[in-house]
Amino acid sequence: MAWIRTVGVLLLLALGSSIAKVEEEDPEYWRSQARSTLKTRLHHKPNTNVAKNVILFVGDGMSITTITAARILKGQLRNQSGEDSVMTMDTFPNVGMIKTYSVDFQIPDSAATATAYLCGVKTNLNTLGVNAAARNGVCKSQKGNEVTSILKWAKDAKKSVGIVSTTRIQHATPAAAYSHSASRKWYGDADLPASAKRDGCTDISAQLINNTDIDVIIGGGRKYMTPRGTKDPEYPRDFTSRGKRQDGRNIIDEWQRMKMGKVARYVWNRTDFDSVDPETTDYLMALFEPGDLRFEADRDPKMDPSIVETTEKAIRILQKNKNGFFLLVEGGRIDQAHHEGRGFMALHETVAFDYAIGKALELTNEKETLVVVTADHSQPIIFNGYPFRGQSVLGKSPLWAQDFKPYTMLMYGNGPGHKLINGSRPNLKDVDTKTKDFVQYAAVPTESSTHSGEDVAVLARGPMSHLFHGVQEQNYIAHAMAYASCVGEDQSHCSSSVSPTLDGANNLAAATGGAHFSRLLSVLLLMLALFH
Ligand SMILES: *[C@@H]1O[C@H](CO)[C@@H](O)[C@H](O)[C@H]1NC(C)=O
Ligand SMILES: *[C@@H]1O[C@H](CO)[C@@H](O)[C@H](O)[C@H]1NC(C)=O
Ligand SMILES: *[C@@H]1O[C@H](CO)[C@@H](O)[C@H](O)[C@H]1NC(C)=O
Ligand SMILES: *[C@@H]1O[C@H](CO)[C@@H](O)[C@H](O)[C@H]1NC(C)=O
Ligand SMILES: [Zn+2]
Repeated sequence: MAWIRTVGVLLLLALGSSIAKVEEEDPEYWRSQARSTLKTRLHHKPNTNVAKNVILFVGDGMSITTITAARILKGQLRNQSGEDSVMTMDTFPNVGMIKTYSVDFQIPDSAATATAYLCGVKTNLNTLGVNAAARNGVCKSQKGNEVTSILKWAKDAKKSVGIVSTTRIQHATPAAAYSHSASRKWYGDADLPASAKRDGCTDISAQLINNTDIDVIIGGGRKYMTPRGTKDPEYPRDFTSRGKRQDGRNIIDEWQRMKMGKVARYVWNRTDFDSVDPETTDYLMALFEPGDLRFEADRDPKMDPSIVETTEKAIRILQKNKNGFFLLVEGGRIDQAHHEGRGFMALHETVAFDYAIGKALELTNEKETLVVVTADHSQPIIFNGYPFRGQSVLGKSPLWAQDFKPYTMLMYGNGPGHKLINGSRPNLKDVDTKTKDFVQYAAVPTESSTHSGEDVAVLARGPMSHLFHGVQEQNYIAHAMAYASCVGEDQSHCSSSVSPTLDGANNLAAATGGAHFSRLLSVLLLMLALFH
């Protein structure tokens, strides 16, 4: 069969070269592009300001493969070839790699990883806001092992704080910012085993309003907030959407009462969300679904805003604080789409996530706002074959496999897409693989894909973003963000005379040891000027 392969490859090369862009055949195209990139980098100066604001964007399960494929898709959705498109996150000047393992597992989950990058301490699988001496699901082991997050450190520093997610707000990533829980699954009190209640543990929803005073809360998860049987306002006839609490508490009402005297809005739909004026609103809680939000491709824009809009609203509300803010934005359903083996959904979620990053850059200033983009862990998606330039990233490789059947460029190591028909894989010849419900082939059958263990990227822009560099442990991210914004325990470099402002002179370099010297120097210079 070797000849078939040879002919195939020759055909591929012939077709490939006819598809290449004409300007790319000119070597000067590549040289001038590289020269311009080089020039930009040579003129790049580290930004050593204090970060007044920090925005952390977490793409849950956003592996590097996901980023590459989503970049191509983002370009193709704009009728470009895609490979050379530039996502917003691609423009960040500083990039590093992050080791994601947890204390007990080589490949981690979102709870252990969120505790690492938000609280600065690696911990065990399934545990939130506790150190590794706490045991998964054991309430008693939680006591005394709590660790706090940068959300709290920022609030303690009199900044405003917020969380935006596309999942339920009690889900692992957002929950690690405000709760301490031996189990990530204790969303509401009905999820706690009797022993955990007896030992004094409280559910994640209760902790949402009882721990750090959070200014902006946007996501899903209404059903964990209301008494059992409470009808959902959007799906009153759906039994599974009804309230789940056994203790009879209505956390939403309690939250509103706690904020009495402030302008605090609770909204659950687009109309009310749009009517929230950031200029006059102190607190916002927006819960758009009983559980997780819908995938971006399935979203009803008349009922729910996009992650771009929720990110914008959060920033506009938080931005009013002259001390600055900390905001966590999670693209939480990239991971969930991957778990279902749905490449289309995962990539569209990632594209929307990147647009949200773009919106954040539009609304903030690079001189005072540190923006960090990362993923918590990887997913077993691969991107393979020899597709032509400009070919749909959701399509099939031009060359068939040895079983004379086509295969998609995107596939999974494991997941629900594994299928054998009469002992061989299904023939995709007449299947449209570009639809939103298509499930990519997986080598090994699992009900849901597992996470995968290779490093993830961290990309950063703004004050002290050069700290996000090299190959680092995941818990380093919390420390670097805290250092950059002068919050948390380590503030030895943050002299009291240095306030986070736009003034280039008030920077961290001056604060670290050089502060006294530079002040002395300016006094001397002034004297010289006066007496000359
Ligand atoms: C892309 O091209 C199609 C077909 O030519 C057109 O209908 C669509 O509006 C274009 N989209 C954009 C974003 O330019
Ligand atoms: C609220 O927090 C306080 C102090 O952390 C704690 O003592 C109390 O049990 C918590 N209450 C609930 C209902 O979670
Ligand atoms: C949105 O929520 C408000 C407050 O509950 C309600 O009055 C309004 O009818 C809702 N809008 C829609 C379109 O459901
Ligand atoms: C499986 O093989 C049998 C016997 O060759 C054939 O009758 C049947 O149609 C095959 N099934 C599929 C789904 O291809
Ligand atoms: Zn996951």
